[in-house]
Amino acid sequence: MPKRFSPPNDDICIILQDRLYDLLALASHAKQAHWTVTGRNFLTLHEFFDSIFTTLTGFADELAERIAALGGHVKGTIKFVAKGSQLPEYPVDITKAEQHIEAFSKALFQLKMLLRGNVRTVAELEDDGSVDLLTSMSRKIDELCWMVGAQIEPR
Ligand SMILES: [Fe+2]
Repeated sequence: MPKRFSPPNDDICIILQDRLYDLLALASHAKQAHWTVTGRNFLTLHEFFDSIFTTLTGFADELAERIAALGGHVKGTIKFVAKGSQLPEYPVDITKAEQHIEAFSKALFQLKMLLRGNVRTVAELEDDGSVDLLTSMSRKIDELCWMVGAQIEPR
C-alpha cells in the first residue's frame, strides 16, 4: 500500500509526539501538586495547579489532533508518556508550596526550551500550521513560567 504522507510530515509528527508526551507528563505533575500542596496559600495554589492542568491537557489535545491531521498515529497512554517524556519525574513526597513551585518550575522551564527549539525546526520543515500551534503554546508556557515563579514569596 503506498504511503499517504510525505517524509516531512513524519518528522513533524515525531516532534509533536515528543512534546505531547511532555505535556501529558507535566499535566500529571500539575495534578500531583493540586492534590498534595499544603500551607498558608493552599486554596490559591490548589486551584492554580488545577487551572494549569486544564491548560496543559487542552494543549495536549490540540497537539494530538495535529498529529492525526498530519497522518500520524497518536500515542497518549500513561505507559507511553512515562517512557517518552523527557521531563524529570515529579517528586511525590513533597507538600510545601515552595517545593512544589520549584519542582514544577524546573519541568516547565525545560518544556519551554524544548518548544522553542521545536518552533525553529518545524519552521525549517515549512509546516506553517504546526509552527503556529507550537508558537502559541510556547508563548503560553512562557506566561506560565512567569506565573508559577511569581507564586514564590519575596523574602
Ligand atoms: Fe480537584
